[in-house]
Amino acid sequence: GDVGAGEQIFNANCAACHAGGQNVIMPEKTLEKEALDQYLSGGRSEKSVMTQVTNGKNAMPAFGGRLSEEDIANVASYVISSAEAGWE
Ligand code: HEM
Repeated sequence: GDVGAGEQIFNANCAACHAGGQNVIMPEKTLEKEALDQYLSGGRSEKSVMTQVTNGKNAMPAFGGRLSEEDIANVASYVISSAEAGWE
């Protein structure tokens, strides 16, 4: 996916809860590499992020009806590449 486009999607739809790769609602479930390895269903991959963004999970809303598949693929690329870079 397009990481640059994904960054804009992230800032508009995700940053309210996940600014800087953190999680304001469930503080341990961050978007950091180790947390994605430990908690994300399916493990740390773009595909797993896409599934969670599409369907939501507990207090995280589903974006399947609000974002296109392309937008979701791009934001997943941004999340995985940012996790690998340590959310610098
Ligand atoms: C968890 C991504 C929007 C609240 C997660 C996780 C990812 C993610 C990858 C798994 C983290 C982990 O298990 O360590 C995104 C993306 C978003 C988005 C890409 C935008 C498209 C939001 C918003 C909220 C939110 C707007 C708050 C209203 C949460 C919560 C969890 C979570 C509460 C923990 C879910 C659980 O396991 O119970 N998010 N998120 N997210 N997110 Fe989001």
